[in-house]
Amino acid sequence: MSRPLRADLRVRPNLEGLSEAAAEAIADLAEAAIEEREGFTIALSGGTTPRGLYELLASKYRALISWSDVQVFWGDERYVPPEDPRSNYRMACETLVDDVPIPRANVHPMPTSLPEIEEAAQAYEQTLMSHFPGNRPRFDLVLLGMGADGHIASLFPHHPALDEQDRIVAPVRAEHADPPLRLTLTVPAINHARNVHFLVAGQNKEDAVARVFAEKADPAAAPAAAVQPEDGALVWWLDEAAAAAIPRG
Ligand code: 6PG
Repeated sequence: MSRPLRADLRVRPNLEGLSEAAAEAIADLAEAAIEEREGFTIALSGGTTPRGLYELLASKYRALISWSDVQVFWGDERYVPPEDPRSNYRMACETLVDDVPIPRANVHPMPTSLPEIEEAAQAYEQTLMSHFPGNRPRFDLVLLGMGADGHIASLFPHHPALDEQDRIVAPVRAEHADPPLRLTLTVPAINHARNVHFLVAGQNKEDAVARVFAEKADPAAAPAAAVQPEDGALVWWLDEAAAAAIPRG
C-alpha cells in the first residue's frame, strides 16, 4: 500500500463536536446519494464512540434524511443474541434505528443465531450480494471506530482475517475480545466503499492513531492502516486528544 494514507483529517475539540460535525456530514452524504442513486447504503460501526452520532441522526438530523431510502447494514457484530448488551445491533437500535421512520425491511443486522458462525458469515454475504450488483458491496458509507490496539470492525492485529482477500464477511475468533466470536466485513469489502469515515476520540487512542499515520505504518499491527478506499474518500473524524500525536506532515 502506498504511504502516507490519503485521508481527510477532521479534528474537533471533543467527542460532542465530533459527533455533531460527523452527523451533519453524513446527512449530506445521504442526501447526495439519494439524489444521485435513489438510495443510501450505510454500514454501521459498534463500540461506544458512535452513540452520540447515532442519537443526533435520530433527533436533530432525523427530518433531513429520507429514511425510507436508507439501507442499514453492520460492519461487524459480536456473536451474541440481539438482546445481549454487547450486541452492536442492539446499540444501534437503542440510539438510532428504533427512533427513525426506517422500514424494517431496510435494516439488515448480521445474523447471530445460527449454530455455526461460518454459516452466519456466508448468510450475510448472501444478504449483501442480493443488495449490491457486482461481486463486492459498494457501500455509500462505511463507518468505523478504532480500538486502542488499532483494530477496526472485528479485524484485530495479526489476526488471519486481516489478510482475507476473497471474502466479504469473515467469521472471527479473537480470544482476548469480549465476546471472542464475531463477524466482520473484510478489508477488501471496506476498501470498496464510496466513503469510509472513522470516528475516534479519547486520549487512549492517541498512540494507535499516531501508528496508523506513521510513515512506516504496519497494517498487521495497526489494522486501521489497511483502510484506504480504492476509489472512494477516507475521512478521519478525531477529537483533539486522539489526534495529539499524529506525525507532522
Ligand atoms: C466492535 C467494533 C469495534 C469498535 C472499536 C472502538 O464491535 O467492537 O465495531 O471495532 O469500533 O473497538 O470501540 P469504542 O468506540 O468503544 O472505543
